[in-house]
Amino acid sequence: MASYDAQTLARLEADAAQVVARYPEHPRSALLPLLHLVQSVDGYVSPAGIGFCAQTLGLSTAEVSAVATFYTQYKRHPNGTYTVGVCTNTLCAVMGGDAIWAELTEHLGIGNDETTEDGAVTLERVECNAACDYAPVIMVNWEFFDNQTPSSATALVDALRAGEPVHPTRGADRVVSFRETERVLAGFADGHANEGPGAGEPTLVGLRLAAEKRWTAPGEAGEPDGPAGARKRGAKREEA
Ligand code: FES
Repeated sequence: MASYDAQTLARLEADAAQVVARYPEHPRSALLPLLHLVQSVDGYVSPAGIGFCAQTLGLSTAEVSAVATFYTQYKRHPNGTYTVGVCTNTLCAVMGGDAIWAELTEHLGIGNDETTEDGAVTLERVECNAACDYAPVIMVNWEFFDNQTPSSATALVDALRAGEPVHPTRGADRVVSFRETERVLAGFADGHANEGPGAGEPTLVGLRLAAEKRWTAPGEAGEPDGPAGARKRGAKREEA
C-alpha cells in the first residue's frame, strides 16, 4: 500500500489526533475532515491518503473511497493551486454563467475537472454556489466572486495564473492556495475567517424591507404579519 515518508506521516498523525479528538463518541465522524487534511498535504485524495484515513479510523479502504468519491470537494487526481468553480445552475446560467463558462473553457483550453498545464487552475462547473442573489457567481477555492462577467472572469484566472493576489468580493481578504484552504476545511483556522463582510447588499434588502414594513415571522409579536399574516387573516375571513 502507498504510504508517506516518516516525517510527513508523523505530522499527519499529530494533526489527525487533534481532528479525531473532536469526535470522542464517534471517531468515524472524523473521516470528512481527515480527507481534507490529506488533501492539504497531497493536493488530492491520494492512495496513501486513503490508506492513512482507513488505518486511523479503523475503516476499510473501500469505505474511505466510497465517501471520497461521493463528494465533489474531494479530488481523485492532483488539483490545481486554485479551483475555479463557475456556477451554471439555472439562475446564474441565465444571468451570464453559461457565457462565463464558454469564455473560460475557450480561454484556458480546459474543460470540467481539468487543470491548466501550469498547474494553477482547475476548472469546475458548479451546481449553485448558494449565492444566487449575486448571480452570476464564481468561487475560487470556495471564496466568493460575485456579479461576474466573461471579461472579469478571464482577468481573474489570468491574475491567478500570474501569481497575483486576488481579493474575493466578500469574506476573507485574499484567496489562499487549494492546500491551505484544505487545511482550514480540516479544522485548522488560518485567522482569516472573520475578515470582510459576510452578507452583501442584495442579501440585506429583504431584512431591511421587513423592518420598514414591520413584517414579523409567524408567531412573533402576536398575530403574524406580512404576507404570511395576510394569508392567515384571509383564511379566517373565508371561514367566517
Ligand atoms: S444559481 Fe448560481 S449561486 Fe445559486
